[in-house]
Amino acid sequence: MAEIAPSVLGADFSRLADEIASAEKAGVTTFHLDIMDGHFVPNISFGPAVVKTINGLTDCFLDVHLMLSEPEKYFEDFVKAGADLITFHLEVHPEPLKYADQIRQLGVKTGISINPDMPVDRVLPFIEHFDYFLVMSVYPGFGGQKFIADALPKIRTAREYIDKHGLDTKIEVDGGVDDHNAGNVLDAGADLLVMGTAFFGAENRAELVKQIAGYSRG
Ligand code: DX5
Ligand code: ZN
Repeated sequence: MAEIAPSVLGADFSRLADEIASAEKAGVTTFHLDIMDGHFVPNISFGPAVVKTINGLTDCFLDVHLMLSEPEKYFEDFVKAGADLITFHLEVHPEPLKYADQIRQLGVKTGISINPDMPVDRVLPFIEHFDYFLVMSVYPGFGGQKFIADALPKIRTAREYIDKHGLDTKIEVDGGVDDHNAGNVLDAGADLLVMGTAFFGAENRAELVKQIAGYSRG
């Protein structure tokens, strides 16, 4: 069943505890935490201390997206802070398996991500070694950007490859996903939809969670 992973970057940070509680009440079971270093992406967000705070506020699955030039330096810090999944970018480690092993040895799930301008064929040879494949549908760095539709064929190709090889890698899509394009993203084969602006700006968050959970692939 498809689910939404709210990107906390889209929350009102002045009321973070209320936002987390409200998301849980709406039926959310995963939070997407965007970690930005101002180098791999042109923005700086937050670090392990904030992840630790969020971990203290919820028992939900914490999906930590490392948009860092040297993610391996921080794997342990984020796992200690409460990360359940650590995703890094193929752009910074074109030979990613060593880093997948490091994350697995820390006892959490592994994720690999590619930006919109990276062909999906570059990740397929490694995908079986990852629990999650995070397809970026925006150039990372900011919430509230427009969905890049070129992500759809990449999702389809990954879905076909995963199904053909009987893998259980989950496909997660991240950036500009909302209730208008969610159907196309799910039809293409996504399992998990990151939503920042669309979730935290939704009229009725529970309704949105239910709509996605109840969606049957076209
Ligand atoms: C972008 C982040 C995304 C973003 C999603 O760099 O990786 O997770 O916060 O936010 P929306 O859903 O608003 O695009
Ligand atoms: Zn993200």
